[in-house]
Amino acid sequence: MKTETIRAADRLCGEISVPGDKSISHRSIMLGALGEGATRISGFLQGEDNYSTLNAFRAMGVEIEDQGGGNLLVTGVGLHGLVEPTTVLDCGNSGTTMRLMTGLLSGQKFFSVLTGDQYLRKRPMRRVVEPLSLMGAKIDGRDGGERAPLAIRGGNLHGIEYASPVASAQIKSALLLAGLYAKGETTVREPHLSRDHSERMLKAFGADLTPFEGGVTLTPGSRLLGRDVVVPGDISSAAFFLVAGLIAPQSELLIRNVGINPTRSGILDILLAMGGDIQRVDEREVCGEPVADLLVKSSQLHGIEIGGSVVPRAIDELPVIAVAAAVAEGRTTIRDAGELRVKETDRIDAMVCALTLLGGQVEGREDGMVIDGVESLSGGSVLSRGDHRIAMSLAVAAHRATAEVTITDTDCTETSFPGFWPLLRSVQRR
Ligand code: S3P
Repeated sequence: MKTETIRAADRLCGEISVPGDKSISHRSIMLGALGEGATRISGFLQGEDNYSTLNAFRAMGVEIEDQGGGNLLVTGVGLHGLVEPTTVLDCGNSGTTMRLMTGLLSGQKFFSVLTGDQYLRKRPMRRVVEPLSLMGAKIDGRDGGERAPLAIRGGNLHGIEYASPVASAQIKSALLLAGLYAKGETTVREPHLSRDHSERMLKAFGADLTPFEGGVTLTPGSRLLGRDVVVPGDISSAAFFLVAGLIAPQSELLIRNVGINPTRSGILDILLAMGGDIQRVDEREVCGEPVADLLVKSSQLHGIEIGGSVVPRAIDELPVIAVAAAVAEGRTTIRDAGELRVKETDRIDAMVCALTLLGGQVEGREDGMVIDGVESLSGGSVLSRGDHRIAMSLAVAAHRATAEVTITDTDCTETSFPGFWPLLRSVQRR
């Protein structure tokens, strides 16, 4: 098990880019596989999670040429061209792979089994199993279909209207992928808009999709056609450098080529509201997704109230936002974020324990945290709990600690951010 020790720098500065967006990378393989003809992908995230998706499609007969450097050539087999995998599909640590694939496999006229690592096998799956069963899929799993491994017998689906109790792109995307194979329309409503990469990409590949206030309807029957996908940098990875740049003294970082899709950019709104100096430079659109360079400078942050519709727009960034709040002036309250408890680990508990150990004033609530900012944190040894975003958030916290912070179990950062530790050290100046 690897550990990393981070010592605060005098300042952070430089120009960096972060790896490709994880959500878009997953979807580029999936839709590339289901499209007819070639899909060339560039900027693909070469993280373990995305390779779980890639390997699953190879196991279903899709030819995917990994040309290195994040360039892939997928030879799509069309909507009905996947073949039954002869072995169990291993989703590793990736919830997106498992939940989206459960939807897609529900539409296939064959048998398949999905499993994952020790963390993924503990995560809730009924949220997709239940609505997919309503569509006609036969899915079995441990705890009555709540936990993987999941065994799926797909085919003969019919569209449904489903009001999801949680704002979750994984639920929405699973149903839309199944809806491609259903008789009749599939409509998904959600309490707040979750990330819309599936909708954007499905449309670009030729699906008939109608978004409306509070939901989206997919009408099956259209063919999907392969096309080129350029994956922007992941704002969830940029998040660590945004917060580090704000809380470390005298810092200035330029993060190039970051996806700023409004369903993902909640962190920018939150950090700006906390008094952060972040500028969007050269806003542009790449392959149907808004992109910008982000310039961040050290700032005195203050506490705010976080809740409601911004939460799904910043869900993966809340652990590192908690770090910003831990050294901001005054109180920050995070509400409506109970979903954090069912991520790769219970991220509320993980951040409360680690920040408290480092001298932070943090209290956990069922659906969030109350954080009273302190001037600086102390050093110490903290646990990632095998969760990539916890590990990287704690590395950021080290930049306002008076002594070294050691983070244990850091291999997990490979799932979403290969090269994180050297990149972080490359912007540290002493
Ligand atoms: C993701 C959706 C989110 C997010 C996850 C990636 C996706 O999960 O936390 O990291 O790519 O669809 P939920 O949809 O469960 O909120």
